[in-house]
Amino acid sequence: MEHIVIKGGHPLRGDVRIEGAKNAVLPAMAAALLAKGPTLLEGAPPLKDVEAMAEILGWLGVEVKREGPRTWSVAPETLSRLVLPEELSRKLRSSLFLLGPLLARFGEVEMGYPGGCSIGARPIDFHLKGLRQMGVEVLEETPVLRARVRELRGADIYLAYPSVGATENLMMAATLARGTTTIRNAAKEPEVVDLARLLTAMGARIRGAGSDVVTVEGVGELHGVQHRIIPDRIEAGTFLLALAATGGQGAVQGVVPGHLYAVLDMLHQMGCQVSFTRDRIHLKARGRVQPVDIRTQPYPGFPTDLQNPALAVLVKADGTSIITESVFESRFRVAEELRRMGAQVQVDGRLAVVRGVPKLKGTRLMAHELRGAAALLIAALSAEGVSTLEGVQHLDRGYARLEERLSRLGAAVERVNTLRVD
Ligand code: EPZ
Repeated sequence: MEHIVIKGGHPLRGDVRIEGAKNAVLPAMAAALLAKGPTLLEGAPPLKDVEAMAEILGWLGVEVKREGPRTWSVAPETLSRLVLPEELSRKLRSSLFLLGPLLARFGEVEMGYPGGCSIGARPIDFHLKGLRQMGVEVLEETPVLRARVRELRGADIYLAYPSVGATENLMMAATLARGTTTIRNAAKEPEVVDLARLLTAMGARIRGAGSDVVTVEGVGELHGVQHRIIPDRIEAGTFLLALAATGGQGAVQGVVPGHLYAVLDMLHQMGCQVSFTRDRIHLKARGRVQPVDIRTQPYPGFPTDLQNPALAVLVKADGTSIITESVFESRFRVAEELRRMGAQVQVDGRLAVVRGVPKLKGTRLMAHELRGAAALLIAALSAEGVSTLEGVQHLDRGYARLEERLSRLGAAVERVNTLRVD
């Protein structure tokens, strides 16, 4: 089993280049199915989730080729299956993004119901409600989801919550539907805007992406393009929080500062010195961080994916912070592990009260999901003594070679491969 050994107490210093956004490349790979001809995706992050999506597309008969460490080509012409077995669709929740494109191009799809995970049930009712409004017949015989439609038609869809995935799925389906589709209360995340940019380059007619009303006028067909994925604002925020947690200073490069205003504001409230240029954000920690109240929100609010990493910093703040997780129903599981390091975090549903302590002590830690794993790594970097983090497979889903890049910033971290001799 692999684990990471962290010796805390080293302030991080230096610059790190940020990878492409996981949550932009996954829908983009699905969007490529809409085109007649191959699409080339550049700037893709070298992550396990991207490889899993490539494996899923490959299973469907799509020609997916890794043209370089961060470049994938997706050619849907050879697609030969419209059925995705449960063990594959459960492997990657983003297999859900296949619904829109496969229905738009081939009129049917069968897949295992994408599972929830440790942050919540993660239902897909908004996706299915919108598709039904577009004429799709959805047969939900859990654990299998079957959907078919003779011809998708445009619809006026209202999302009860600005769901990122539902906005993306319905936008993709609408590109080839007959007529115009309006998505109201749409998600405004940069990844939604990046997907709209890709689809528009492919020949789609989309207006309003990034606002809460997205309008898509269906066209006859889309063509393959070359597209560069936007940088990962969550990875950038994670590194900035690690700099803050360890009392360090440094910069994240190759970012879009405008994607992170809520995070920069929070770091400033913590007492860090923050400045930025066109594609670079510099942070200098100034002593013990100040407590900050955080409420996660849909974009442009504070992102839920940085809630756990921020919690890992605030556990050592000079006072009490209140964190409200308004997006997912149970995203404080990491508090249990932080308490074992000496943190004082009281969780009550979507609320956490964090009483800052002067220090954490390193110990044996277990990660249960992606952003919790990043949070534990940050906490261990700022703790006294040595920690071992297990469950690193969760980390690799969303962060490329994180411990290697942290050690280049001066962290004492190492990935260890111990064969279990049970
Ligand atoms: C995307 O998930 C991201 N994943 C998540 O990142 C991110 O946390 C989330 O958006 C919110 O920003 C990808 O883009 C691949 P939602 P998604 O639909 O689309 C409820 C990470 O760590 N909901 O905006 O699943 C849902 O349960 C991951 O990188 C319904 O009730 O998020 C949640 O409470 C984690 N019914 C809320 O809406 C639906 O049909 C927001 O979910 C859909 C969602």
